[in-house]
Amino acid sequence: MNAISVKDLTYYYPKRRDPALVDVTLDINKGEFVLITGPSGGGKSTLCRCLNGLIPTFYGGKISGKVTVMGIDVSSATTSELSRYVGMVFQNPEDQITRMSVEAELAFGLENLGVEREEMYKRIREVARLLRIENLLNRSVEELSSGQQQKVAIGSILVMRPEILVLDEPTSELDPKSAQDLIELVAQLNRELGMTIVIVEHRLNFILEKADRLIIINGGRVAVDKSPQEALRSREVERLGASLPKVVQLYHALSEMGLNLPRVPLSVEQLETELRGALIRVH
Ligand SMILES: Nc1ncnc2c1ncn2[C@@H]1O[C@H](COP(=O)(O)OP(=O)(O)OP(=O)(O)O)[C@@H](O)[C@H]1O
Ligand SMILES: [Mg+2]
Repeated sequence: MNAISVKDLTYYYPKRRDPALVDVTLDINKGEFVLITGPSGGGKSTLCRCLNGLIPTFYGGKISGKVTVMGIDVSSATTSELSRYVGMVFQNPEDQITRMSVEAELAFGLENLGVEREEMYKRIREVARLLRIENLLNRSVEELSSGQQQKVAIGSILVMRPEILVLDEPTSELDPKSAQDLIELVAQLNRELGMTIVIVEHRLNFILEKADRLIIINGGRVAVDKSPQEALRSREVERLGASLPKVVQLYHALSEMGLNLPRVPLSVEQLETELRGALIRVH
């Protein structure tokens, strides 16, 4: 069974003449780490909203095609049922933060699900340890830094133990160090718990090397769906409006100068390895 299966999905927001998604078909396996990027207005957030039922339940509009999540048809499930399978982290942590203390915030979703108190506190402690926010449990959410708030937002999703984590530009409000920490954490959840990850990002530093798949959404369509290695071999991704990390730009510049590295470097360390290999071959 796929974690997510999207078939021929076309969607129009209410009163819109042009569709926000056109004929989107995607299968995402359990345990995959999928990175989605592409130009602004391409339809990335719209796709995320289809995965947890916000579309069409809250947004309305016209939808055709089929979306299933862990085998459940999204159109016949409530958003609260779906929240057990798909956890969604939005761009602004403030959108998600409603309660006073960190502990109350983490308990909120579990209270709604009717989870017993003992089990609730066990899960909260577990997630707080994982996120390294144990010392913040009694603090008020408002007084935390945006990096800490984003961790709390993620924590409030993780306590529900979803099989799939969907993150829509989770690092956009964070400084580079907190952004990198967050990506590391997501990669850890993927690696150690086998959690399926769907993450939308504009800045591709640090994350390309973690992803199994790179999907570019442009004009509501899936324009590219390949491994990062394959996708970045040509300049196609750049032409589609994605901003590439410096190492990948350098790879293309070197190719144009006649130095073809066997693999596309996705990090500075990988670039160094590739260059050393190329120099040994030259001498
Ligand atoms: N609530 C809405 N009502 C009507 N149209 C919308 C709504 N949200 C998005 N759209 C339109 O749907 C299309 C896709 O937008 P979407 O927000 O999904 O793009 P995106 O790829 O997430 O962009 P960004 O990178 O800027 O976040 C755009 O044309 C946008 O104007
Ligand atoms: Mg968006």
